[in-house]
Amino acid sequence: MTDRYAVIGNPIAHSKSPRIHAAFARQTGQDLSYERILGSLDDFAGDVRRFFADGGRGLNVTVPFKEQAWALAERRSPRAQSAGAVNTLTPLPDGVIAGDNTDGPGLVRDLAVNHGFAFAGRRVLLLGAGGAARGVLRPLLETGVAELVIANRTAARALELAAAAKGLGPVSGCGLAALTGQRFDLIINATSAGLTGEVPPLPDDCLAEGGWTYDMLYGDEPTAFCRWGADHGAGRALDGLGMLVEQAAESFIIWRGVRPDTRPVIALLRRREGEITA
Ligand code: ATR
Repeated sequence: MTDRYAVIGNPIAHSKSPRIHAAFARQTGQDLSYERILGSLDDFAGDVRRFFADGGRGLNVTVPFKEQAWALAERRSPRAQSAGAVNTLTPLPDGVIAGDNTDGPGLVRDLAVNHGFAFAGRRVLLLGAGGAARGVLRPLLETGVAELVIANRTAARALELAAAAKGLGPVSGCGLAALTGQRFDLIINATSAGLTGEVPPLPDDCLAEGGWTYDMLYGDEPTAFCRWGADHGAGRALDGLGMLVEQAAESFIIWRGVRPDTRPVIALLRRREGEITA
């Protein structure tokens, strides 16, 4: 029997997840279907429970429901626990709903495996202190970075996030102005500034020579932060399409126990090159 999966969000029409999971299923010979569900803003939990009661085997969760999915999950992985958000829900045989968060592993894997970034000993700057930043913090700290600085427009939120993650690794928080005079090997943009074509105001020299930039957003055109990276001498200026596919792959592994080959799927989705090579 075909196993049913879906992604739930609101809005949801734009989601690339069905294409990604269909490609994984074809490639690995798995018998599954994967649909889009427009979640109701006032009854997310009801939508989830109905899908599982109807035999659904797993759900990916996207904006704006990741925090609600965290609250709904009755068992959470450590990385989901510290992310404060869940993007993968799985009903277990004993009826418990398990929650995981594959965004951070997806980001780290795209950088480390697809692009060969060596995290160990590097100074990394994470821009933003909202849900997107919090979601990737723990996996980033597990890579062996020398230092992870969280910088945010509202400094207090960065300080708070860093304080909450202190036991996980070498992390600190600050406002954007405090970046003056600092240099980083990798700058990751987890702000939503790019949604309006903006880039957080950064000192011009905060990227180390040959340092990389990574925008968690992606688009058919290079994002504003990708352009910022290219304009500031980035060795690589990457967008988040690879992260999107890798987080889907991590969910696929949880559900199906096999790792799909992400490269052809990333190539399939990248109709136009979002990355700029400086
Ligand atoms: P998400 O869940 O996508 O992280 P969020 O929780 O609303 O969304 O967080 C958005 C993040 O982008 C915040 O860190 C926000 O900074 P503030 O905490 O100061 O609001 C940041 N952000 C949004 N627009 C920005 C801009 N134009 N410049 C700099 N930072 C911006």
